[in-house]
Amino acid sequence: MRILVFGASGGCGRLLVDLAGRRGHIVTAVVRPGSNGLPIGSAATRIGDPLDKAFVQACLRGQDAVVSCVGLRRAGKSPHARLLSPPDLTERLMSTIAEGFAEDPPGRIVAISAAGVGDSFERLSRPVKWLVTSGNVAVAYRDLANMERRLATLGTEWLAVRPVTLTNGRPSGRAREIGRYRLLSRIRRADVATFILDALESSAPLGDRAVMIGT
Ligand SMILES: NC(=O)c1ccc[n+]([C@@H]2O[C@H](COP(=O)([O-])OP(=O)(O)OC[C@H]3O[C@@H](n4cnc5c(N)ncnc54)[C@H](OP(=O)(O)O)[C@@H]3O)[C@@H](O)[C@H]2O)c1
Repeated sequence: MRILVFGASGGCGRLLVDLAGRRGHIVTAVVRPGSNGLPIGSAATRIGDPLDKAFVQACLRGQDAVVSCVGLRRAGKSPHARLLSPPDLTERLMSTIAEGFAEDPPGRIVAISAAGVGDSFERLSRPVKWLVTSGNVAVAYRDLANMERRLATLGTEWLAVRPVTLTNGRPSGRAREIGRYRLLSRIRRADVATFILDALESSAPLGDRAVMIGT
């Protein structure tokens, strides 16, 4: 497949680009100007603003699948740490992609969201509910909820992947759909990347749905 990856400089994005390249896909990694992280592996890199319609339209041309690993950055781990990204970043990215889709729609699109977004909120334990409704985490969750709503209107096959708390480390191969998000629930970024790529490679439909994943 020809796969276009937004947010290719981030934790999940870099791993997805690398894995997709190793599995033989033709990957284009989108990175914003001045980004600190460059994708790993042999992907072609396109540097530009993912909110620039003309740039995104050009990136989308000829792609079979699109993945968004974009998310809001904060200055620190505290939910109240300052936001380093616009508060509506992922929603606006999806709107920009939607405009680009009109010309040359790819077959499939997957976006990383977060466990607790939308109808998964009721499946969070009480402390996690408190966490995701605090400070700038709440801002990010609102943005992701709006992003998911936009994703569902694109008119192409879609999947929103809602991981629990992300950690680093080698892939465990245990990523799966889960029913509850508790304070100690974790999933490795490498497992998120594998889950997304497995879904894109599967002959089964993506299902036009959101899925909460953990290990
Ligand atoms: N952390 C968690 O425990 C957790 C749990 C559930 C879901 N999530 C979601 O999963 C997503 C992926 O996680 P991750 O660890 O891979 O995230 P990450 O390392 O923070 O990567 C975020 C990506 O978004 C890009 N980005 C941020 N602001 C941007 C802007 N203004 N313009 C263009 N690109 C911008 C970053 O680009 P630069 O590298 O250039 O900054 C980077 O590529 C998160 O963003 C979050 O929404 C996180």
